[in-house]
Amino acid sequence: MSQNTASLIPLSAAPPEMVEAVLDRAFGPDRHARTAYRIRADMAPLDALSFAALDENDLLVGTIQCWPIGLLTPQGAQVPLVMVGPVAVVPERQGEGFGVGLMSAMIDADARLAEANGASLPQVLIGDAEYYGRWGFSDAATKGWRCPGPYEQHRLLARGAALVAMPAEGMLGPWGSAAA
Ligand SMILES: CC(C)(COP(=O)(O)OP(=O)(O)OC[C@H]1O[C@@H](n2cnc3c(N)ncnc32)[C@H](O)[C@@H]1OP(=O)(O)O)[C@@H](O)C(=O)NCCC(=O)NCCS
Repeated sequence: MSQNTASLIPLSAAPPEMVEAVLDRAFGPDRHARTAYRIRADMAPLDALSFAALDENDLLVGTIQCWPIGLLTPQGAQVPLVMVGPVAVVPERQGEGFGVGLMSAMIDADARLAEANGASLPQVLIGDAEYYGRWGFSDAATKGWRCPGPYEQHRLLARGAALVAMPAEGMLGPWGSAAA
């Protein structure tokens, strides 16, 4: 699989309005109504796991953002996870490896965090298993998890060693929302 990692920078180093423009072009301007936006609500992205890709002319062509979210169990406890996405590449540069490069950078950063901290949080996203399966994402642990909006259950995917300890059932939402 080709992987374009020529120029990846921390997302926080990219101008926010340019990041928004990439997202608008990849998903369309009505993207804010998507279920993934409801899950993470007003959270700020996790800096250590969020990146931007620059092309050979230093133009911003792709982004990956990760968010602190939680799984609210039927018993009322909220268990922390990381929501991955959106992963976005501008239409005219799709299929050149930027998406794989951004995902791989996030996975590598997560592995470094896990090594430093002794553990890392499970990651969850809404996407195609055919694409995200290469990084270990699957719906094996998510069949009893729900989202606050429309989604296809088989596209709710998760990865991570800590998945074995996750509750089988719950509702995804912004971190801290259980206390609200
Ligand atoms: C999905 C997206 C991020 C992928 O980025 P990209 O830079 O186009 O992808 P890459 O060039 O890195 O992909 C490389 C591989 O993934 C495959 N691929 C891309 N999208 C795929 C999909 N939906 N399902 C299966 N495979 C897919 C390509 O065929 C290619 O395969 P190969 O490595 O075997 O040759 C990008 O196409 C995009 O922004 N799409 C619109 C927004 C979106 O749907 N984002 C994902 C949901 S969060």
